[in-house]
Amino acid sequence: MAEHILVSVAWPYANGPFHVGHIAGAYLPADIFARYSRQRGRDVLMVSGSDCHGTPITLAAEKEGVLPQAIINRYHASFIDTLRAMGITFDLFTQTYTDNHYAATTDIFEVLQSKGYIYRETAVGSYSESLGRFLPDRFVEGICPNCKYDKARGDQCDKCGQLRDPKELGSPRSTVDGAPVTFRDTEHFYLDLEKLEPNLRTWLDSTSRDYWRSNTLAFTQNWLREGLHGRAITRDLEWGVPVPGNLPEFKDKRIYVWFDAVIGYYSASLEWAKRTGQPDAWRAWWDPTRESKSYYFIGKDNIPFHTIIWPAMLLGYGDRALPFDVPANEFLNLEGEKMSTSRNWALWMPDLLTRYEPDLLRYYLTAAAPEGKDSNWSWAEFVQRVNSELVATWGNLANRVLTLSQRNFGGVPTPGDFLPVDTTLMNAIEVGFERTQELYEAVKLRAALQEAMSLAQLANQYLSEQEPWKVVKVDPTRAGTVIFVALRAVDTINRLMAPIIPHACQRLHAMLGFDDVLAPQPVVESEIDPDGQQRPVLTGDYRHHAGWHISTLKPGTLIREPAPLFRKLDDTLVAEELARLGS
Ligand code: MF3
Ligand code: ZN
Repeated sequence: MAEHILVSVAWPYANGPFHVGHIAGAYLPADIFARYSRQRGRDVLMVSGSDCHGTPITLAAEKEGVLPQAIINRYHASFIDTLRAMGITFDLFTQTYTDNHYAATTDIFEVLQSKGYIYRETAVGSYSESLGRFLPDRFVEGICPNCKYDKARGDQCDKCGQLRDPKELGSPRSTVDGAPVTFRDTEHFYLDLEKLEPNLRTWLDSTSRDYWRSNTLAFTQNWLREGLHGRAITRDLEWGVPVPGNLPEFKDKRIYVWFDAVIGYYSASLEWAKRTGQPDAWRAWWDPTRESKSYYFIGKDNIPFHTIIWPAMLLGYGDRALPFDVPANEFLNLEGEKMSTSRNWALWMPDLLTRYEPDLLRYYLTAAAPEGKDSNWSWAEFVQRVNSELVATWGNLANRVLTLSQRNFGGVPTPGDFLPVDTTLMNAIEVGFERTQELYEAVKLRAALQEAMSLAQLANQYLSEQEPWKVVKVDPTRAGTVIFVALRAVDTINRLMAPIIPHACQRLHAMLGFDDVLAPQPVVESEIDPDGQQRPVLTGDYRHHAGWHISTLKPGTLIREPAPLFRKLDDTLVAEELARLGS
């Protein structure tokens, strides 16, 4: 039976389009890992959706004077467009504003409550006298008691990574108007993390987490060292999942966005199963007694929610699979500076996609991925890497080999005896295939790409040294052998690159004479809500057949008319793109 892999991807707030940082940090690595897993014949479920609650949404709605739903619909549609254009293939990309998600959130809340993991308590809330209402935690700023950072937010300190409570901050002030924040009594429900802590520690200690990235581990251990305390999971708000139980004193309160958003991974799996017509199908990824692995692709600012709070909720709920890995990424800077959407120091995906093919973006964002450390988008480097690596190394190799075989042999030549130089390349490809596979397996995608590209370099070198275009005139058999070896190398490397640059790899796959789809993916569908709203979803069925193996290209196979895989970028676009920034 196929191994089951759950690919969970952070839920983007539906308050603006995707920028390149979102894609580099979570959606693209998740997609590459999902595609790799599908290509290996594993049964992948990849889910996420729009995060529809929380102040980012209500603030955007207030600013425009529209309902939150209007904001959500606009950006949800925009997300889907970007995902589609980038070839990021979710099994389901839904929203947290659905009946299904509200029901799942209510269920988890009620079960945790019935098991004694949720309690009620009156505590002080941050109150803005100038605005006359309670303030969300993240709108309170002050001094972190742990690291003394003076811009720590009420929900989290971005410096030391600890989750915060506004009351703990020194000199708390409102980020809305800078006015001091006062505290007033307000009753809320709390998740009893103290009670869940022993289970959580047992889980975290039970398996060696050596394979977790060091930043994921460090943030988690940092946080555990402090000991866990109850966390409020309701807020004084009008927008969000209603507090279960129909309590009159909670009618003006809602479930906190971070409590419901993480439930999205689970609720989306339920929704996907319902849509496929097999309402129990989700169990293959969530039943802890079955062999499945879940991966959570997130940015580093989301780590504690995925390594502490969500696992604690699952442990309390019981009988559900816990995260296997949380490959959190660092941040992508832009031309050496931190991205900022308010200063418009960002590259917006809808705009970027009007000028660049998805594979160029996928290639560069993987080569310069913020894996393990912050990384940087530089337009000069983008152009240079596309031209020297994608065009000159990979594209050129494929084109040279295909043209030679098509012109001289009409297809894959029959090889004669192999010389040591041939077997050396064949062995290197075999070893490189294994190594790349190990890197994909460990979610080291940047290194996986590097390994595959180094194989392309080797094959290029082999070709330049063997000069089959000259040899063919005097010794066609020898030339045929070289071209055969090179074709197999190209086919193998193409399979290794397919998760990263799938569009070009499929084109090359067809030129290599194959009629099938190299790596089938879920398909895109669209649906109309009962209220007449267009609500596109990515869902559907696909047959994965394992395209993950070393080339077995047969002599005599017809090679189709080769066309260049990529076009060279003009150097002048660096200046053009730099001029666009920040305007
Ligand atoms: N919307 C949050 C953000 O953009 C991420 C939510 S991830 C989830 O930071 F786990 F809560 F879903
Ligand atoms: Zn701090």
